[in-house]
Amino acid sequence: MEQLIAATATFIEEKFQAEGSGHDWPHIRRVWQVARALAAQTPGTDLLVVELAALLHDIADWKFHGGDYEAGPRAARAWLLSQHVPEATVARVEQVIREVSFKGLGVETPASSPDAAVVQDADRLDAIGAIGVGRAFAYGGHKGRPMHDPATPPVSHESFASYQQSTAPTLNHFYEKLLHLKDRLHTPAARQLAQERHQFMEAFVAQFLREWDSVDVC
Ligand code: ADP
Ligand code: NI
Repeated sequence: MEQLIAATATFIEEKFQAEGSGHDWPHIRRVWQVARALAAQTPGTDLLVVELAALLHDIADWKFHGGDYEAGPRAARAWLLSQHVPEATVARVEQVIREVSFKGLGVETPASSPDAAVVQDADRLDAIGAIGVGRAFAYGGHKGRPMHDPATPPVSHESFASYQQSTAPTLNHFYEKLLHLKDRLHTPAARQLAQERHQFMEAFVAQFLREWDSVDVC
């Protein structure tokens, strides 16, 4: 088991070197660490499934595969089968990866197992706080988006299709997703961790808007 985790970590670390869209190896390493910590405080988790799913959760993101939602689970399956992982474990890891991603405010993302709950929570914790702010602007820059445009108000994406097609300025992403994440966590341990990160993000947005109009100067 330890060898399989180590081999998976090395495989993903090499694949995600110098990634500029916010899906870099440090993101995946943090999700792995945090998912492990949440699993220790969450009854009913299977640590092998949690660790593999955390490491493989961004292996082929739908956003970068023409919206193909099965690309991630399929790529994870191929890797795990190459490592001779039993089918039952492969299927459980695939299911966690399928459930992990945020798909718009109106789209529910239930976790069908404690394993899915902790991996989803760990991924969401890395989208908020100071790291979350950094990742949002890194993603926006990668996509060539403006940081902010007061003439483009945030919209509530009620469907996956609308969320997928959004080309909104980066600051809108805070209203469309990031500031809602603390209320969409599954485990008490993650909800506790989210509080400070959420407050930091609220303070960041307030200060950003003050500086945008130079209210702090004139
Ligand atoms: P994750 O890796 O947590 O599953 P995503 O794949 O949805 O998250 O996005 C990766 C990072 O890019 C996250 O920090 C997320 O907030 C950010 N991001 C995704 N979509 C946008 C967007 N439209 N504007 C700004 N940041 C975004
Ligand atoms: Ni992720």
